[in-house]
Amino acid sequence: MNFSFIHLIFIFLFFHLIHSQDDKRPFIIGVFTQPTSSGDESFVPWSYINFIQASGGRALPIHFNASHEEILDIMKSIDGILFTGGSQDFFPFNSTWIEAAKLIYNNAIQLNDNNHPFLLWGTCMGFELLLCLTNNDPSTITNGFDSVNVNLELIFTQFARDSNLYSKVPDTLFYNLTRFNLTYNDHHWGITPDRFNSLSNLYDFYNILSTTKDINGRSFVSSIEAKKYPFFGVQFHPEAALSLFCDSENYPHSSDAKLFAYYLSEFINSNPRNSHDIDPSILFELQGSHLLWDGNIDCMFGDYYYQI
Ligand SMILES: *[C@@H]1O[C@H](CO)[C@@H](O)[C@H](O)[C@H]1NC(C)=O
Ligand SMILES: *[C@@H]1O[C@H](CO)[C@@H](O)[C@H](O)[C@H]1NC(C)=O
Ligand SMILES: *[C@@H]1O[C@H](CO)[C@@H](O)[C@H](O)[C@H]1NC(C)=O
Ligand SMILES: *[C@@H]1O[C@H](CO)[C@@H](O)[C@H](O)[C@H]1NC(C)=O
Repeated sequence: MNFSFIHLIFIFLFFHLIHSQDDKRPFIIGVFTQPTSSGDESFVPWSYINFIQASGGRALPIHFNASHEEILDIMKSIDGILFTGGSQDFFPFNSTWIEAAKLIYNNAIQLNDNNHPFLLWGTCMGFELLLCLTNNDPSTITNGFDSVNVNLELIFTQFARDSNLYSKVPDTLFYNLTRFNLTYNDHHWGITPDRFNSLSNLYDFYNILSTTKDINGRSFVSSIEAKKYPFFGVQFHPEAALSLFCDSENYPHSSDAKLFAYYLSEFINSNPRNSHDIDPSILFELQGSHLLWDGNIDCMFGDYYYQI
């Protein structure tokens, strides 16, 4: 029996234990779209769709340009929303894209306050977006980190082991994340732990679960979870390990890197959720969006992307 087979059995038993609900429907996670560079269209990188679906969830693109009424309506029938990576401008902090993100954020707070669990997840730019939304200021994050196309370690804080996000990571994987470079990073923007701790809106709202040193040894916050809400953010790119292959990029595909990515996907798809009946037409909406492939391998986002 080879190692990865034992590994799989272990992971299977492990998730079977934490995920004991006998649910009849998948988790449905909205993926917030972003404008294309021309601004005329809206897209979702395929890698994030694959990340959600890797552990059995269903990903539903949420058009950033949808009416606010429509976004609020969709949020009644889904379990959470993921803010993807990308390179959108946060200035001005009132663009159509930003205003829709604010609506989602504020409504997620309200739903949770009304005992309707609603998850928010941010990856890379999405992580930065969460911080700016919480602090209501696009200058919350700063530029100048040297962490583009590089795999780095996590330095866990004292909050990590007991956090919702990381408490179920198997011990050996948790340890390996601290000594091998298992997380893919691709950002110039971010926030230092010092700056984070100096901003009371952030400090009061989130726990820092890990920091990471960029290749010059400068620390940035690499994962967070909100203290009272199911809101989570990672500066690194878990979806890359599961979805992206490209000669020019250093995407990690070791067993550990993939296991960690899978763990996070499964985490998203096993959070407490509302037992609301979903509108079945939601599931059909996915079919109305178009999975496109322009014939090129897109190194950043995956070969395919949804244009909706
Ligand atoms: C956004 O909606 C407006 C009004 O419906 C429309 O004119 C515009 O083309 C849309 N933009 C995108 C990127 O979908
Ligand atoms: C967006 O904010 C800028 C100031 O940053 C302001 O001049 C502009 O009118 C605002 N636009 C809208 C649509 O509210
Ligand atoms: C962690 O690292 C050790 C040593 O390289 C390796 O044997 C093991 O497979 C890795 N992963 C896990 C989940 O233990
Ligand atoms: C992890 O990456 C850092 C920065 O590139 C490097 O200095 C270190 O040697 C790497 N560690 C391992 C175990 O490869």
